[in-house]
Amino acid sequence: MEPPQQSAAGGHKRGRRGGARNRRKNTSSSQQARPPSPAVAPPSPSSPPAKRQRKAVAGQGAAKSKGGNTMSLLDKMRARLSGGYQEQMSHWPEQPVNVIISWLKSHNPSWTVADFGCGNAAVAKNVKNKVFSIDLVSEDPSVIACDMAHTPLEPTSVDVAIFCLSLMGVNYPSFLEEANRVLKPSGWLVIAEVRSRLDPNTGGADPEKFSKAIIQLGFSLVSKDAKNKMFILFYFRKKEKSKVVKNIDWPELKPCLYKRR
Ligand SMILES: C[S@@+](CC[C@H](N)C(=O)[O-])C[C@H]1O[C@@H](n2cnc3c(N)ncnc32)[C@H](O)[C@@H]1O
Repeated sequence: MEPPQQSAAGGHKRGRRGGARNRRKNTSSSQQARPPSPAVAPPSPSSPPAKRQRKAVAGQGAAKSKGGNTMSLLDKMRARLSGGYQEQMSHWPEQPVNVIISWLKSHNPSWTVADFGCGNAAVAKNVKNKVFSIDLVSEDPSVIACDMAHTPLEPTSVDVAIFCLSLMGVNYPSFLEEANRVLKPSGWLVIAEVRSRLDPNTGGADPEKFSKAIIQLGFSLVSKDAKNKMFILFYFRKKEKSKVVKNIDWPELKPCLYKRR
């Protein structure tokens, strides 16, 4: 299947809430009365990083830069975490997140989606689907603030897991293992990565080796879209049943080298 490539039209915010924890925080929300989503597990001892993150984020407000401009500390933290991607990506002719939004819009709106490393939660803001937006830090109450290696989502609870330019750490396999845990059988794993990270000619990983590792995790590669100059998109589906392969040979993904077009 060849996913559509047109840019998604900007949508409006639909006020989704990312999880039980965030619903608790946002007491003015009209969604307060709703029961907790069955896709979000109660906090467990397996997610201490998430707890630490929330504490670290609490109380952070706006800071004055030297120039007198007000810049959120969260914005600064996000810029540092993402290696300045926003500035670089703003020069790209097409944003991978828009390709993914278009792809989602052309599929089932009843699918539940998990957007791992969601940034400004563009996916949730532009599709009808229920979206769990996940990021390390956020001042947006609709975002679940946690390490995406340990989310509070229930096992086999989502139809689509998205990693749009978010396989950032050396521990990226743990992010994909978490996606595998929360995805339903036959669920989609959609990955967009910076081209240079998956191009052996520029010191990047071998994309075949990358795909093979994910296949060994229990997925089938449905399609790969390499026509964009700046990023590659992979569309995997979780196998109904799969043998657990031990000691998967994950290729190293070097830090992102965002380049201007
Ligand atoms: C390059 S940005 C991409 C944002 C968004 N997906 C997009 O395409 O616009 C990567 C995001 O991943 C997040 N991130 C990185 N490591 C993470 C982790 N371990 N857990 C949760 N989020 C993480 C960063 O905070 C950042 O917002």
